[in-house]
Amino acid sequence: NQVIFSGIQPTGIPHLGNYLGALQQWVKLQNTAAPSTKLLYSIVDLHAITLPQDAQKLRQWKREGLATLLAIGLDPERSILFHQSSVFAHTELMWILSCTASMGYLSRMTQWKSKLSLTDDTSPLEESAKSKLKLGLFSYPVLQAADILVHRATHVPVGEDQSQHLEFARECVTNFNHAYGPHLIAPKTIMSPAKRVMSLQEPHLKMSKSHVDPRSRILITDTPEIIYKKLMSALTDSTNSISYDPVARPGVSNLLELLSHFDAEGRDAQKLAVVYGDLGLGQFKKVVATTISESLAGIREKYAQVLNQDGGAYLDHVEREGARRARENANATMAIVREAVGLSDHS
Ligand code: TYM
Repeated sequence: NQVIFSGIQPTGIPHLGNYLGALQQWVKLQNTAAPSTKLLYSIVDLHAITLPQDAQKLRQWKREGLATLLAIGLDPERSILFHQSSVFAHTELMWILSCTASMGYLSRMTQWKSKLSLTDDTSPLEESAKSKLKLGLFSYPVLQAADILVHRATHVPVGEDQSQHLEFARECVTNFNHAYGPHLIAPKTIMSPAKRVMSLQEPHLKMSKSHVDPRSRILITDTPEIIYKKLMSALTDSTNSISYDPVARPGVSNLLELLSHFDAEGRDAQKLAVVYGDLGLGQFKKVVATTISESLAGIREKYAQVLNQDGGAYLDHVEREGARRARENANATMAIVREAVGLSDHS
């Protein structure tokens, strides 16, 4: 039987990169999967604390994260929605996996190398700065592997920036199974068609939650006015017409890509460039703004409603039920793992 697992960090309201690259797929999988398919989606709060977080803010973001999952159309009866830290088995399996995972593989991960400034033109970090980097940032992929493996996931829907982490998860399976027997399952990556949504301000960079300029990303709860403003200020170029050329015209091409992901007729960016070829940049941005606003309208309303439903009691209920079901699922794997490793009391 298939098991689908994925996660998102509670570090603010999801943006269009998160939505198109992952969340929209989660809903689609939920709505098309066979009844026997298990679906689990997690707010990964333990991953969020690999960078400093304010406790009060994190609590709020966890709550809002859960509300966004409901707002996009995930059904808590069908999908198990839960906070990672409420299922201890994730951290327990992480420890066990880290005892067979190799440091060499981890140190070659792009995300880690970017922390050492080894991936761009800036000079590599000084030794003193390197030694201050946190262990949690280094072992981050082991926790991510545990998230997936503890639920025996067969498929993991993510954006492209996570594909290396998933390769590492498969590596963890190989290492563990080699040491203890064939107990863990290697997950497949499901890559969304919008695998890398780009920033509105710097279209050569991916849209990200951490970029300093909030105009670089559209949040799924942004109002039409804000969406319009962000699009109007999106970086394009000085050619006042529409054409698709990701190399020469990355800004306009990114907007065409965005539009295509929301296009009701499913037309691709190239096709849309022909359809809107006669528009000026301003008029075209207006079309993109309107399309995105209309597509997100339902989400915005549902989000506000869910967050306050029964004075918050509804979210409490979803949280509790999700944790209970996720724990049950993870504990079944841990019984096998503990037995295989020799941690259980009897055999
Ligand atoms: P996170 O929280 O950064 O992002 C959540 C999801 O959004 C996708 N994404 C994008 N897709 C396309 N274009 C973009 N610009 C863009 N930005 C983000 C990400 O690929 C991701 O699918 N490490 C993970 C969370 C995690 C996880 C897991 C995921 C923890 N454990 C287990 C899958 C399975 C992360 O930080 O995602």
